[in-house]
This record gives sequence, structure tokens and C-alpha cells, in this order.
Amino acid sequence: AESSPPPVGSQLLAYVVVGVLGYVVTNALIPNIQQYTLRKGISGKDLGKRGTPTADRDVPEALGIAPGTIFLVCLISCVVGYSHHHPAKLLDLNSALLSVCFMLFLGFTDDVLDWPWRYKLVLPSVASLPLLCCYAGSTSVVVPIPMRSWLMQQGEYTWLAKVLTFPQNDSAFMAPLIAVDPKADGALLDLGILYYVYMGMLAVFCTNAINIYAGINGLEVGQSFIIGCAVLIHNLIEMEHEGQQLRENHLFSAMIMLSFLGVTLALLRHNWFPATVFVGDTYCYFAGMTFAVVGILGHFSKTLLLFFIPQILNFLWSCPQLFKLAPCPRHRLPRFDPATGLMQPSTFPCKAADFKLLKRQPDDTECANMTLLNLCLQLLGPMSERDLCVTLLAFQILSCAVGFGIRYRVSQLFFDG
Ligand code: UD1
Ligand code: MG
Repeated sequence: AESSPPPVGSQLLAYVVVGVLGYVVTNALIPNIQQYTLRKGISGKDLGKRGTPTADRDVPEALGIAPGTIFLVCLISCVVGYSHHHPAKLLDLNSALLSVCFMLFLGFTDDVLDWPWRYKLVLPSVASLPLLCCYAGSTSVVVPIPMRSWLMQQGEYTWLAKVLTFPQNDSAFMAPLIAVDPKADGALLDLGILYYVYMGMLAVFCTNAINIYAGINGLEVGQSFIIGCAVLIHNLIEMEHEGQQLRENHLFSAMIMLSFLGVTLALLRHNWFPATVFVGDTYCYFAGMTFAVVGILGHFSKTLLLFFIPQILNFLWSCPQLFKLAPCPRHRLPRFDPATGLMQPSTFPCKAADFKLLKRQPDDTECANMTLLNLCLQLLGPMSERDLCVTLLAFQILSCAVGFGIRYRVSQLFFDG
């Protein structure tokens, strides 16, 4: 039954309480669950401690299962209260639960079974299908002001618009993929089904981008916590705006983020240097999917990408290794030097033959693995694992601030309103 919802303030307060409870329970649960994963041999060596007395210790792995599960419990309890006031949103919430749950399952099985890469690429896009099915938002993108004349001039389609919207006359057999709204004067480009493809790829990107920007204590969880805070701040800002629909979308996202931040902070406590647990792909996939979910259902996926600047840079820099243009060792995390106690860029042997594309020097040189972690060490010199993590997280905060700047200042130059 529908009743008028309580004021936004008290709803938010309720979600904060759920998030705090999520923190408390997760924090208490992790020391407990880690014994179970250890007993089953789900553990890993801390590669950043090689050559120290603690290097041989088995660190419990895949502990993302604890915050992941508690997060689902938090959301399910939100469903009970939320659906009462926003019955139309119930479908969104349930599909969000299904998608996150599927990724949690996929992540945990990956930690236990080590899926090959192709599975990791395909399955997140499948996991996002329940979301995409109930996505009722617009599939149009706003064209930046300087580019509008590329599409329409004096009320006429330009040749570019004609190519994009081919075939222009809807025939029964083939409708154009992309549409330019003639009334909007080139300001709106309806991507149609391509917009769904983009959202599916967003899910693949968010999950894997966090997972490959990893390898030192606290980085996976720390970056997710900061991105989560940025998303929450964005939601709170947008909730001030007019428009019932907009406000509801951002309230919905804030609800999910508050639970997410609660359980994430608890995990961060245990994963911070020196880590007593590893978060595993379980956590990376779960966190990435949660961001994709709020970005898609909250209708702010492009703003979300602005908070992923370090992950985008790390992905781009990694491309030669990811796409096998250069050899890619199983682990690319920085190398720990026990003599100095500092981390140094890890390397791989690169023969000139492997590097035709990049025109590398003579044979038998060592090249640093192409990750942002190693790049940071190359630029700033060796540092301790903890300092490296703090530096990269500071960069994450800076990037999110730049993201906000682009979203709220620069974009006004290119888009109206
Ligand atoms: C991704 C990266 C890989 C990186 C790894 C580390 C790519 C293509 N893959 O692989 O280069 O080395 O993450 O997370 O970029 N570990 C630590 N300290 C930590 C976290 C992890 O030593 O703080 C080690 C542990 O041995 C742990 C293992 O990394 O067991 C987990 O690696 P896993 O998540 O399975 O690696 P991938 O995600 O496949
Ligand atoms: Mg991983």
C-alpha cells in the first residue's frame, strides 16, 4: 500500500542508521569469517612483504564476502521500508539486488576457481541485464554546444547526421540505430540500443577497472570508499534540485551508497596496511557492480565515470599488457625490496621482438609493468607500501575533486543549464 513518504531528512537518517549497523556487523564478522576461508585454503601470500618474517604467513583471501553479504542484508531491510513508500521503485531495487548478488557470486567463485579472462569480461555484462531491462530513462545524450552545428545547420541535417542516422526512413526491416531530434536543433542524439550497449560495458569496466588497480594493502577498498563518498556527495547535491523524479533517483542511490560505505569502511579497517585479510575479486566485483547499479538506475553514469579517472588512466596505461602487445605476468604489483623496506616498480623481461609496436631498445632490457602503481614509483621514487597507498588514495581524492569541477563548472561551457 502506498502512503506519502516521510520527509527526505528522516529517510536519509534511517539509511545512515542501516549503514552504521552494516559497519558494526561487518567489523565483528570479518575476524570470524577469516578462519573459515583459511581452513578451506582460500588464502594468499602477501607479496608486498617478501623477504620479511611475515612473508610466509597465509593471509585469508576473498573476505569481500563478508561486507558483500551484509550489504545485501542492509539493502533487503531497506526494501521493506522503502517499497512501502515508493512502490514504483521496487523493480529497480530488486534488479539492483539481483545484479549485485550475481557479481558477488561470480567474484567469490573467481577467488576459489580462478576464472579465465574471457569469463570475467562476459559475465558482468550478463549480470547487468536485469538492470538494463528495467532502465526506463532516456537513451539520449546531450551534444556539446560547439558540436551541434556538426549535426544540424539552418534546420537541415548535415552529412554527418545523415550518415549517423542511416537509414533515415524507418522501414519495417531496419530502423536507424541513432536518431537526431530535428526539433532540438542538434542538441540531442538518441543512441537507442547503443546506449544499452554502453551501459552494459560500464558494468564490465567498473568491475574490472577496480580489480586491476590493485595489489597493495588497502588500495582496492580505499579507492572504492573514496568513489563511494564522491557519489554520495553528488547525490546529496542533486537532491536539492527541483523535480520529483530526479530527487527520487538520487535518494535511491544515496540509500545504496550509505550501506555500501558502512560495510566498506569495516573492511578497510582489516585490509589497511599491514593487512590481516585480502578482499579478493569478490570485493572488487561487488564494489564495481554497485557503482554501475547506482550510476545506471540513478541516471548519472557519465558523472560516475568522472570519479573513475585513476581507474581509466590505469586501464589505458595497462592496455598494451592487457591486450597482449607486451607480455603480461600473472602479478604486476610493485616489487618489495627487503633491504630498504621500500617498494620499487616490478618489471618484465622485454625483448625487442615483443615491442615492435613501441619501438623499444635492445634485447634483454627490463621494462616496468604498466600500472599506475608502478608509474607512481617511477615518477616519485621508491616508497613504502603504506605511503604508496596513501599517495594513490590522495590522487583518487584529487581526481574526484576534478570530476566535480568538470561536472559543475566546465560542463556549463559545453552544455546549457
Ligand atoms: C590483478 C592484477 C595483477 C595484480 C593483482 C593483485 C592485472 C591484469 N591483474 O589480478 O597484476 O598483481 O590484481 O591484486 O592487472 N596481493 C598482495 N597484497 C595485496 C593484495 C593482493 O600481495 O594487498 C596478492 C596476494 O597474493 C593475493 C593476490 O594478490 O592472494 C590476489 O590476486 P588476484 O586478485 O587473484 O589477482 P587478479 O585480480 O587476477
Ligand atoms: Mg583481484
